[in-house]
Amino acid sequence: MTTAVYPGSFDPITLGHLDVARRARGLFDEVILAVGANSSKSYLFDSRQRLDLARLALQEAGVGGLRAEPMDGLLVDFCAEHGAAAIVKGLRGGADFDVEQPMALMNRHLSGVETVFLLADPALAHVASSLVKDVARHAGRIDDLVPAHVAAALASRAAPASTPAPTKEI
Ligand code: PNS
Repeated sequence: MTTAVYPGSFDPITLGHLDVARRARGLFDEVILAVGANSSKSYLFDSRQRLDLARLALQEAGVGGLRAEPMDGLLVDFCAEHGAAAIVKGLRGGADFDVEQPMALMNRHLSGVETVFLLADPALAHVASSLVKDVARHAGRIDDLVPAHVAAALASRAAPASTPAPTKEI
């Protein structure tokens, strides 16, 4: 049984993430999405929400051997706890490689774990959580970029605040 860990912040999970997860599952018996946080970033959804959105997306994808788990602490420790043979990352282009290369080398330095890179499907290479959030913030169309429940979660975040209750007269 070979296990791979696909880590990320998944804020929120997109169709690009799901494509990488599915393709990784073709290479490994089990793929665990490790829903973590980069301490230098801030997130729209909290860690519980990001995990729940990812879990529902995987459930709806209906592919066996894919699951999402929360990750606190170091990725290499998460990999050791789950007996992972490799880390999987998606690369949309050179900018992703520049970010991922030092992390892959650091993770191998720390524990010997290798990182396997999958090139994004060209049809999805523009799909980044940050861009999806920006499009959603401006009420643009995102229904072909994320699963339906993620689009709904983004829409509810972008909705204008409800009108405050009128002040009660005494
Ligand atoms: O969505 P992101 O920003 O690419 O996710 C980054 C993440 C969460 C995968 C990365 O920050 C990470 O691995 N965090 C766990 C802590 C850790 O192991 N840090 C050292 C990385 S070399």
